[in-house]
Amino acid sequence: MVDLSAKGEGSGTPVLVAVAWPYASGSRHIGHLAGAYLPADVYARHQRLIGNRVLMVSGSDVHGTPITVRADAEGVTPADIVDRYHKEFVADWERLGIAWDCYTSTDTENHAAVTQDIFMRLLDNGHIDRRVSDQYYDVEADRFLPDRYIEGTCPYCDYPDARGDQCEECGRTLDPEELLSPYSKITGSIPELRSTEHFFLRLSDFTDRLGEWLDTRVGWRRHVLHFSKGWVEEGLQDRAITRDLDWGIQLPVDDLGPGKRIYVWFEAVIGYLSATKEWAQRSGNPEAWREWWESPAARSVYFIGKDNIPFHTIIWPGMLMGYGGLNLPTDVPANQYVTFKGGKASASRGVGLTIGEGLELFEADALRYALAASLPEQSDTDLSVTEIARRVNEELVATWGNLVNRVLSMVHKTCEGSVPQAGERTTEDCEVLALVDAALDTVTEQIGRVELRAALRTGMDAAAAVNAYLNATEPWKVVKTDPGRAQVVLGTALAAVSGVRVALSPYLPFSTAALNDLFGPIACWERVEPVPGRLVARPTPLFAKVDVEGLLDGEDEE
Ligand code: MF3
Ligand code: ZN
Repeated sequence: MVDLSAKGEGSGTPVLVAVAWPYASGSRHIGHLAGAYLPADVYARHQRLIGNRVLMVSGSDVHGTPITVRADAEGVTPADIVDRYHKEFVADWERLGIAWDCYTSTDTENHAAVTQDIFMRLLDNGHIDRRVSDQYYDVEADRFLPDRYIEGTCPYCDYPDARGDQCEECGRTLDPEELLSPYSKITGSIPELRSTEHFFLRLSDFTDRLGEWLDTRVGWRRHVLHFSKGWVEEGLQDRAITRDLDWGIQLPVDDLGPGKRIYVWFEAVIGYLSATKEWAQRSGNPEAWREWWESPAARSVYFIGKDNIPFHTIIWPGMLMGYGGLNLPTDVPANQYVTFKGGKASASRGVGLTIGEGLELFEADALRYALAASLPEQSDTDLSVTEIARRVNEELVATWGNLVNRVLSMVHKTCEGSVPQAGERTTEDCEVLALVDAALDTVTEQIGRVELRAALRTGMDAAAAVNAYLNATEPWKVVKTDPGRAQVVLGTALAAVSGVRVALSPYLPFSTAALNDLFGPIACWERVEPVPGRLVARPTPLFAKVDVEGLLDGEDEE
């Protein structure tokens, strides 16, 4: 056994699993699922089972130009858009088994109050000031054009459709003024610069502290550290944190006059704190949030896609430094992109498969499996419907589904339909169980390092080893000559299956629960011996094989 307590693990450590807040501006894609929500859920489920006190929080990001651009395009109100997609997301999480402790939205009074408190403290501490700057103005539409209302050519990579806030191609965050050949998304006209007054976050106040802090980060993904340090070394720019918009959180001071709102990226990251406070309020102890934010023993792990890196490794930590007294992120294991048939799976560009479409084609656990097996942890990863189907059939069904089915059928037939006594186990029997126990320890180490792809491999390799054990011991033959020995083998296989089930449970919540009648619900990260005498019904397959031909026919029709 690994000594978990030595690492501060499994001893009730408060762990905040902070997950990127999806814009309620359109359906989320399986690229988003693989980028943030699934890895967070796997991590959180494992951390709960090893005994940590997990809070997994997020919510719908309802402000900003992604929402208003969409509303304008459809001729409806931003509130209509937000309402539609927030509901869709909540339904997606339910169907996918994403087990939030608090999934809320930025459209709550609590979030506005927490945001305004942070704004005021930063203002009082001198980290926010007022500046007049030039911003693009659409003369035809008679309004300022924030962020996504402007597109143009990326000055870094020449991508022609870069947005005013970010280039999706190279991932750089941008200011609209940096775009080459800018045009208004509202009228298509060329905008002119006009002066306007805004509040700025003095991010440059934190350059040294952020640089030093990043230098002390151990175990962070190389690409995350590299990107973040590069940003700090380029010199941190002070950033406008208000916008000329009427959709967003109100400023707590009226210095700027009407028509200004807090910038979405200033307040969305605050959601991690406000959602924790919302959870605490609902739990009946409004002060309970402090343990996750103030206790030095607490850890916070932020699950995001790589386009969100600077907001989580620089800007949010800078805001926290300026506020004081709250924990900085322990780790930000940002994922690279999932590319779907060649294009990044992005909701704003409409490439790839939405979560809803994915769930029409595959069972939730099957989708979770295939995505977890190809998580873009270190580099962009290509996916397609056929690749998902292949992984489901050749790996999930062939290895784990088949093992469970095989063992349960044989126990059902051979052991009078109930779990046999453990009996006298041979070295070979003990070895397979030791292998499963070792796999559980390895998975804990790997998930602890957020190597979720590798940890899934470990669990699947354990399943394959149990299959190999059955092939070597051949209980279906032995039963004819030595039924007692066959029962010991099958009891051992059942015990091994119960351990592999634990190892795979963070990835496969639905099929895990389908075995509750036999093994009981999983309460901790340990292989538990099945209870002798418990009934073993004739098994139904854990997962359905995917009809690949059928899937492809469906694709052709589109
Ligand atoms: N809404 C952003 C997106 O979908 C992510 C916001 S993450 C948060 O890209 F930290 F700001 F909440
Ligand atoms: Zn670019």
